[in-house]
Amino acid sequence: MAVCEFYQSAELGSLTSEFGIHQLGLSLERHFYTAPEVYERDLEKIWGQSWIWVGHASQIPDVGDYFLFNFGNESVILVRDKNGEIRAHLNVCRHRGSRVCLEQAGNKRSLVCPYHAWTYNLDGTLRGGRLMPEGFDRKEHGLLPVKLIDFQGLLFVCLSQNPPPIETALKQLTPMTKPFGFENMKIAHQQSYPVQANWKLAIENYLECYHCAPSHLEYSKSHSLKDEASMTPELMEAMHKRSLEVGLPVDELRSSGEEAGQVGTDVFYRRYPLYPGYLTGSKNGEGVAPLLGDLTGYAGGATDVSVGGLNFFLAYCDHVVGYRFIPTGLQTTDIQTVWMVRADAEEGKDYNLNELTWLWDVTTKDDERIIRHNQEGVNSFHYKPGPLSEMEWGIVHFHQTYFGMMG
Ligand code: FES
Ligand SMILES: [Fe+2]
Repeated sequence: MAVCEFYQSAELGSLTSEFGIHQLGLSLERHFYTAPEVYERDLEKIWGQSWIWVGHASQIPDVGDYFLFNFGNESVILVRDKNGEIRAHLNVCRHRGSRVCLEQAGNKRSLVCPYHAWTYNLDGTLRGGRLMPEGFDRKEHGLLPVKLIDFQGLLFVCLSQNPPPIETALKQLTPMTKPFGFENMKIAHQQSYPVQANWKLAIENYLECYHCAPSHLEYSKSHSLKDEASMTPELMEAMHKRSLEVGLPVDELRSSGEEAGQVGTDVFYRRYPLYPGYLTGSKNGEGVAPLLGDLTGYAGGATDVSVGGLNFFLAYCDHVVGYRFIPTGLQTTDIQTVWMVRADAEEGKDYNLNELTWLWDVTTKDDERIIRHNQEGVNSFHYKPGPLSEMEWGIVHFHQTYFGMMG
């Protein structure tokens, strides 16, 4: 189903939560962006129960390599254990709750709590607790495990022990993303762009390109704006032809998990055209890194991939930009932008960081500004939910997922 058909067929009724009714097709009521009790529930029901993209397996190639992923009140340790398996543990000591790892990344032979020195193996089991009384059961006090999926090298965690069953949808996504060779990538650069706004405003902004023409001059010069006016039949046909020639699927995929109506299990894949003269998302239209995976050339398009409602990727033929919108407070969010290239590409020789990051650096800075101003306006007592345009269909879908998870 094409996106516009989806928008038209969506039942634009109302959705209910403990925080009131939301009329689909409008922006949310003010308190969803301003009330501490809604934010608390967001952390518990949305962030605490969703799959969250945290990084790439290539960040921890060796035994003992680890990095932390933090959001809201939570911190997760991603570590490669003695058997070479990647594990995810909650970064909360089972003695009296201290953070166990304090540095953002590194290499450790074991995980030692800095408070009273309880020592955990890399697989999370407790090796020893000093001077604990006889009868103390180490087996009962390992670090709490966090659910983990390694999808083509992309690592997703979920803090719930009953995570959304996304595996079926990921299986359907597998052949679509395979040609990009995600498992054979590395992170070339990542950057945080803090914005003074509620996380939902940041995601809603990412989900629509209604703002692209007025707010993103650089992006709009090179990318069609995902609307009928700019995705002309000629551009679409040329992109499809080139995509098939270089080995990329052209069909749109919109799929969800095992159980009908299960929220937080959606995956999405869609190609859209770049304008003639642009091979990739770059300043001058030239390629910025070696071609990814099995691709045999540039295809004149870009690919939107999303996984589970909170995780977004934009794949070009020579690099991928990943996006997260991490809540750090009621009205503070980290926009985390991650640039990935082929694992064997060398900086300075095969790619130049300034050229690689130019487009999504200027574009994310634009986004920081417009999202911040959005929050300032929404904070007014006189703000009222306004009607969404057809180009904002992605927000309608986000609201359905959001209310579905909030119960
Ligand atoms: S809180 Fe970790 S050892 Fe005491
Ligand atoms: Fe934007």
